[in-house]
Amino acid sequence: MSRIFSGVQPTGNLHLGNYLGAIRNFVGLQDDYECIYCAVDMHAITVWQDPADLRSNTREVAAAYLAAGVDSKRSIIFAQSTVAAHAELAWIFNCVARLGWLNRMTQFKEKAGKNRENASLGLYAYPSLMAADILAYKATHVPVGEDQKQHLELTRDIAQKFNNDYETETFPLVEPLIFGEATRVMSLRDGSKKMSKSDPSDYSRITFTDDRDSIAKKLRKARTDADPLPEKEEGLEGRPEAANLVGIYAALADLNKQAVLDEFAGAAFSTFKPALTDLAVEKFGPIGEEMKRLMADPAHVDAILKEGAERAAALAAPVMAEVKEVVGFIRP
Ligand code: TYM
Repeated sequence: MSRIFSGVQPTGNLHLGNYLGAIRNFVGLQDDYECIYCAVDMHAITVWQDPADLRSNTREVAAAYLAAGVDSKRSIIFAQSTVAAHAELAWIFNCVARLGWLNRMTQFKEKAGKNRENASLGLYAYPSLMAADILAYKATHVPVGEDQKQHLELTRDIAQKFNNDYETETFPLVEPLIFGEATRVMSLRDGSKKMSKSDPSDYSRITFTDDRDSIAKKLRKARTDADPLPEKEEGLEGRPEAANLVGIYAALADLNKQAVLDEFAGAAFSTFKPALTDLAVEKFGPIGEEMKRLMADPAHVDAILKEGAERAAALAAPVMAEVKEVVGFIRP
């Protein structure tokens, strides 16, 4: 059976983009793959995190996985920092990846902003740790949103260079799994920016903790243009905000965008937004409720994370033994 690995950063404000672009897809893949899902707390601290918030947000990512339908018996759910293989392999990959490759990473440029000199070294090496996450388990498939594509290409480059340099076939070349109608959910305030945990405006995103009232308020305030919805998908071109809301509707309803337009062609946003609100409350609302219920029992979540860490460590152990042998580390 092929192996899946994916992760979400515990940096708070988990949102609809994380759900539709990634977490929802994690659930269905459990039928066909051995799945490992991680709360990547070591990635989170590449930018400052308050320690108490980090702890709580790590449990929240695990709770979101469970609430969405990841089954902790079939799949592995754990926190990255609890399995040492991630850090160990990341160091080896730091010595394989080239500065030039990392200089091209758009996410680093975005996150570091103008003050690059002040970004952490960890933020720069972020993609190398991400490659280690995946390859410590020799995972072959990685479900993510579109924004992670470049990082997965780098993962392939690292695997290939390692294999070439050491003349082995240790690592597989991973395949991204980017699917669904909402692989890149955009901000509700600005159709040219992706929905993100770090946007200063809470109105830019629908979060797992939003109730009906706040979902309704955020969608009511969501930016749109003045035209009614078009008949054909091509009519959404050049209308990023409209395309985004139709994409969200399609993903939540398990339809394609054209099927949504067949239903709503000619409708004004004053009609479409309440329909989208009802749908979001129906499909996304219960997941947030379940996540909150799980968060009320942190001991239960911690027990799942502990068991997950033990299972993950057992899978990583033979891979790390092989890698250390290949690299020439002695094992006295
Ligand atoms: P993170 O925490 O930013 O996002 C978690 C997942 O959500 C997806 N996503 C989106 N999808 C659609 N629309 C959006 N607006 C949107 N925003 C986020 C992301 O693509 C991601 O799949 N680097 C990763 C975490 C990571 C990882 C890994 C992923 C660390 N190691 C190994 C896969 C495999 C990240 O920052 O995700």
